[in-house]
Amino acid sequence: MKTHHDDKGHIGRDRAADSGTAPAELLELLELLELLELDGEVLAPYFSELTGLLAEVADPAPGRILDLGSGPGTGSLALARRFPTAHVTAVDISPRMLHRLRERAAAQGAADRVSTVEADIDESWAGIGQGGPYDLVWAAAFLHHVADPAHTFARAFEQLTPGGLIAVTEMDFFPRFLPEDAGATRAGLEARLHAATDTRPPHDWTDHLRAAGFTHLDRRPFDIHLDHAQAGPPLNAYAQGFLAKLRSHATDTLGSDDLAALDALLDEDQPYSVAHRDDLTVRTTRTTWIARRP
Ligand SMILES: C[S@@+](CC[C@H](N)C(=O)[O-])C[C@H]1O[C@@H](n2cnc3c(N)ncnc32)[C@H](O)[C@@H]1O
Repeated sequence: MKTHHDDKGHIGRDRAADSGTAPAELLELLELLELLELDGEVLAPYFSELTGLLAEVADPAPGRILDLGSGPGTGSLALARRFPTAHVTAVDISPRMLHRLRERAAAQGAADRVSTVEADIDESWAGIGQGGPYDLVWAAAFLHHVADPAHTFARAFEQLTPGGLIAVTEMDFFPRFLPEDAGATRAGLEARLHAATDTRPPHDWTDHLRAAGFTHLDRRPFDIHLDHAQAGPPLNAYAQGFLAKLRSHATDTLGSDDLAALDALLDEDQPYSVAHRDDLTVRTTRTTWIARRP
């Protein structure tokens, strides 16, 4: 782990680039970064509902929050907004993600309440522990990345104060955006695209949380369905990003007529392109497990 503390409470190297990252990987990282930021914008009503639920459950309000695998800080910043006196420690392996998080925290006027720790969560937690003990641990779309989730849950448990909360969220499936008849050819293009790419079952962390010693377990599904007006203009870029990502995984599995129809939908020069249309919606479910350290 590489750390330094600067006068703004930042822990970690303040550099924008992930040195040693190959160009293709860097492109993928930047695409992911953009999608994660758009996620926070498009799904703002969902984040507000989820952090509102945490505010109801946490008593007193958390003073120290740990965001594991923070990315560019969609969760960290939503939590900093919800809990205006809390300090958030955001941990990620990627300096570029953390650099962006610091920029966004500054833009939100929360730079002095958000610290970053550049660390591989599979290795030492020495730097992570410096911001603790914590009253709330948050991990969104992250725990499937770690080598040993059971070990990570046990370490998260150790970082919490007695009575502290953990909130673990997973995306149950990639969001859907298109109307049934969006493709230039047969109806149901998006369903076939998902069938051609989505093979993993959703994650379930119930047993892991119990095994780590957490109690008062609450498993909350969030059904998200927003139309274009509710999601706002970033929905077009968000849909474009997800569909392009799925497209890149479907080259060998989706029929050639569907691939052509999808390419036309992703072509920004087409009038009916995903980049311009106003009949998109976002439909997905996410699950959050909330549990307490006794
Ligand atoms: C899918 S993103 C989720 C980001 C964020 N939690 C969100 O919901 O927007 C996963 C993040 O985990 C980070 N990551 C992956 N493996 C990691 C590890 N071993 N240690 C720390 N961070 C890791 C990645 O750099 C990435 O930012």
